[in-house]
Amino acid sequence: MAKHDLIIFDTTLRDGEQSPGASMTREEKLRIARQLEKMRVDVIEAGFPAASNGDFEAVRAVAEAIKDSTIAGLCRASDKDISRALEAVRPARAGRIHTFIATSPIHMEKKLRMSPDQVIEAARNAVRFARNGIDDVEFSCEDAGRSELDFLCRIVETVIKEGARTINIPDTVGYNLPQQFAERIRLLRERVPNSDKVIWSVHCHNDLGLAVANSLAAVTAGARQVECTINGLGERAGNASLEEIVMAVRTRQDFFDCDTRIDTTQIVPASRMVSSITGFPVQPNKAIVGANAFAHESGIHQDGVLKHRETYEIMRAEDVGWYANKLVLGKHSGRTAFRARLQELGIEVDSEQVLNTAFTRFKELADKKHEIFDEDLHALMSEDVIAPEQEHYRLVSTRFHSETGETPRASVTLVAGSQEQRAEAEGSGPVDAAFKSIESMVRSGTELLLYSVNAITTGTDAQGEVTVRLSKAGRIVNGQGADTDIIVASAKAYLNALNKLYASPERVNPQGDV
Ligand code: KIV
Ligand code: ZN
Repeated sequence: MAKHDLIIFDTTLRDGEQSPGASMTREEKLRIARQLEKMRVDVIEAGFPAASNGDFEAVRAVAEAIKDSTIAGLCRASDKDISRALEAVRPARAGRIHTFIATSPIHMEKKLRMSPDQVIEAARNAVRFARNGIDDVEFSCEDAGRSELDFLCRIVETVIKEGARTINIPDTVGYNLPQQFAERIRLLRERVPNSDKVIWSVHCHNDLGLAVANSLAAVTAGARQVECTINGLGERAGNASLEEIVMAVRTRQDFFDCDTRIDTTQIVPASRMVSSITGFPVQPNKAIVGANAFAHESGIHQDGVLKHRETYEIMRAEDVGWYANKLVLGKHSGRTAFRARLQELGIEVDSEQVLNTAFTRFKELADKKHEIFDEDLHALMSEDVIAPEQEHYRLVSTRFHSETGETPRASVTLVAGSQEQRAEAEGSGPVDAAFKSIESMVRSGTELLLYSVNAITTGTDAQGEVTVRLSKAGRIVNGQGADTDIIVASAKAYLNALNKLYASPERVNPQGDV
């Protein structure tokens, strides 16, 4: 079989976004989509257009901007959802409708409250309706991993007759084991009479830590599309991680009869970008993209690698994009270099005003921190630079006093709407005091679920990147803030989370109750 025929379908912007707190704005989705395109991802699932107007706009913006990847929009098996998705992907050079319905006994009976025949009918109508609007239609059997094989064969045969071009078999709840899942794919391909007319795809969740293993097993059984996400982001324990799938296939070309067209040197930059935008840190020992993935601690290993790299390394760090970000900017760098680097990072600056604000912040940062790395630039180009009009709350300044034996105090000045306010509070530490000052002004009534600080780069002059997760009335948002001063970074992160709660209305989860 010819190589280069394993399709990489990235769903970071859709399934990844379904992780609690990972919701992204239109601008954030655009940035990630540009990076995915640069990485040569074949299909980008940009969102679920029927979820909210914001989601619709984001998918449409991605469809307008991206030229080299197919843009997919997810929709339930209903004409209304499909029409909305068709409208959203219409501007794409290559658009795809991805429609789905649950096929397992438990989902059909308890969630959909539909009989198997009704589910087949809904699937048939959905694919027929979608094919009237677009050629490229993918159909997914939600919870296929727990569906009866005979029923799967029936529904898949039906939708292929209606013109579905890709059949996706999700292990929605991450229940399968590799051999079993591969056997399922093999049997489906064997038993469905028109199976050779379509691309078989898999979409595995990681509840048992087997998403990547299951996906790769499916590839050995003939799957030719893998759905995955950067850093394995996704519902619950996440999806199969793109970097692990791609590197497993690339590294083991002796074993796989297919390969992807991914530019692997873009993997680490993509991982960093997704982590910084969503506020989900990457664990240090995460394969491929974790900080320790290529670090050798023990003397024996270090000695071995120095003598001959392959003694302990099966991949080269530079092949997955480590060290690609070593190009630094400093306080003497000019606007042209600054703009060029942003462009290389996939950050489009479309107005002189935004460039001016960003450049001023860059200079301020360069005064505090001598070398500016790509990670710093990502953190710097936060929402309040790119879309200041969307910020309801904006930090003006912080002051704090902390001394051994004294109760820490902080005062925060912020703008809410157009009004400047200032408040002061005590706390168990300066961060706590700063948050209490903010709360005394905004009275958000939110619950703080998570507070974490990460050094963006190395050295004591590094910016601290703070993630704050807030919940209110069942909604969860993550806020990020970065600064060389941790208290300022914390206040920014808190306000960023509040802005997200303030700006984005309730979204519908595609896989929730219908
Ligand atoms: O996990 C799943 O089943 C999904 C489908 C909507 C493809 O995300
Ligand atoms: Zn999923």
